[in-house]
Amino acid sequence: MTSLAGANLRRGPLAALALAVALLWGAAASGASPPDGAPPRFSGRVIDAAGNPVVGAMVTFEQGDPIHASTVFSDADGRYRSPRLAPRVSTRVRVRRIGWRDLRVDDPAAVAGDDGALDLPLERETDPAAVAAQLPANHWYGLVLARMEDPVQKEELKRQCTYCHQQGNRATRIVRDAEEWRKVLLLMGRMGGMVSPELRAVIPDLFNEAYAPENAIPALTARMNEPDFAPPPPTEVRRALIEEWELGGRASMQHDLVVHPDGRIYSVDMNQDQLFRLDPRAPGATREHWTIPHGDLPLGGAFATVDSPLTPNTNAHVGPHSLQVAGDGSVWITLALGNQLARFDPESEEFEIFPLVDGYYPHTLRFDPRGRIWFTLAASNHVGMLDPATRDQVEIRLPAASFAQAVTLRALPALLFLGRYFDLRGAAAESNPMVMPIPYGIDVAPDGGIWVSQLNQRRIGRIDPDSFDVEMLDTPFPAPRRLRFDSRGKLWIPSFSGGLISRFDPGTREFESWDLPIEPLGSDVPYALNVDRRSDTVWICGTNSDTLIRFDPETEVFTVFPLPTRVTYTREIDFDAEGRIWTSNSNAPTWQIEGGVARVLRLDPDG
Ligand code: HEC
Repeated sequence: MTSLAGANLRRGPLAALALAVALLWGAAASGASPPDGAPPRFSGRVIDAAGNPVVGAMVTFEQGDPIHASTVFSDADGRYRSPRLAPRVSTRVRVRRIGWRDLRVDDPAAVAGDDGALDLPLERETDPAAVAAQLPANHWYGLVLARMEDPVQKEELKRQCTYCHQQGNRATRIVRDAEEWRKVLLLMGRMGGMVSPELRAVIPDLFNEAYAPENAIPALTARMNEPDFAPPPPTEVRRALIEEWELGGRASMQHDLVVHPDGRIYSVDMNQDQLFRLDPRAPGATREHWTIPHGDLPLGGAFATVDSPLTPNTNAHVGPHSLQVAGDGSVWITLALGNQLARFDPESEEFEIFPLVDGYYPHTLRFDPRGRIWFTLAASNHVGMLDPATRDQVEIRLPAASFAQAVTLRALPALLFLGRYFDLRGAAAESNPMVMPIPYGIDVAPDGGIWVSQLNQRRIGRIDPDSFDVEMLDTPFPAPRRLRFDSRGKLWIPSFSGGLISRFDPGTREFESWDLPIEPLGSDVPYALNVDRRSDTVWICGTNSDTLIRFDPETEVFTVFPLPTRVTYTREIDFDAEGRIWTSNSNAPTWQIEGGVARVLRLDPDG
């Protein structure tokens, strides 16, 4: 889509035409005219009807199409100051704080002073239903969890129903009749969200009762007139600048991203088989994309099924999942559905595809100090190694948890073959599905050892980088997901369904754990974490609560950064050279995200 920025930058005889086009676009797209002499910044106070400050409101400046949004917080006096905005691009402002009505200003330049002075008045939200709708998904989901007595079922629900999308967001908290629930659970099961027959039996009534407006709204808003209801974030959070860039379309799903040493961001669209590149420093933040070649692979790749594709609106033949940058600057991608690795050369902009000799569903990848790529193979319980220098490949089978699991894993190629002719997924979704181990996160220790997690098996393991010997260890918590080493060789692990993070010492073999401070406790599911090895600060996904969470291991203090977009489901975290935190909003399906388009985002804690 052409951008307003492009049209307006033109000068000379075409300027009048450009302006006319821009005005048309503006009228069609946003209703705002592109302000030519607009101030480079806006600043002022967020205030209530009596002129008192509203503290900790999120003030968001949206520019361009696709959108680039910058969010700052109002301070203790209600004061805010926007970052420097792109010139000659129409700007919209949104002000938001829980308990207050969203304020939108479509053409702030028209109402601000010449110097950009703009006060933003907020009105109290007095309608309990509207206040409840402002709360992040985890508050709603907490109502479901509070009704569950069996801790085993609770753990299963969190592990199996929250790994594609949030639970408790607007789309998932609708009361449905029995037939609708049967269809939803069959669809979820087909895509991988299989649950035991016992859990399947209780979900419809459990969700319906928890989410019925007459139960949910009073429970969520009982304290809405108390001063401590949804308090503003603390001072250190209010210094932050959060930027978001829309990437792809409505049928996109940006799974993981990586920060390239050259400052550009690469992200993979798992639904559309595309690699994206965002240059946040370029005027208008250039977005480019390339389609990853899929040869003659069918829709669904190695996981093609007889009837329906795996997810609605998908165009995935190779399903790019994760990516990392090699020492030579090339970008390596796991193609989960294609059962391949891809190398993208940023110079020639060409892909080279490496089919795997064994195993299924290449998932997360990391480079070791020798430049070899190590990756988990989630479906077949392997860890793979590919040496780009020699093109050698090794696939190492991890131990299964039972004989039956081992047999099923061996039968996987045959099952996938049969699945192209018979509806095995549908059958599995409606039976008692076997729990598979699912090798997940992977990272390389300072001593070169390769560490992985087995998500469903409460285990982590070490692979010797020379002998390939495997050693597995039980974790004292469920669902170890994407783990990372700090600079001192301690391994940090998020427990997805346990709602905690843990530090494992490979020397003493001891775990130390901290519960995430997200209220209601236990309602969040941290998908990933990453350690900024410059300071050993740990950053954690508040995946179900629209937050990013910082943990300082020295002081053992958590700091919770709320994110401005409702339904911000975060996965991989990376850091840029300035120490800012990058992640993607990869809720699948994307259309559950507020605005309906996937975004990548950057948090600058000292913005
Ligand atoms: C493998 C990914 C995945 C998992 C796991 C998953 N879902 Fe979904 N879910 C989706 C997708 C994709 C959609 C959108 C489907 C559509 O609109 O066609 C969705 C939509 C939904 C919806 C809204 C349906 C609607 O009518 O809009 C509900 C409710 C839901 N999921 C509940 C669950 C529950 C309960 C579980 C656990 C049993 C679960 N999900 C596990 C991918 C998943």
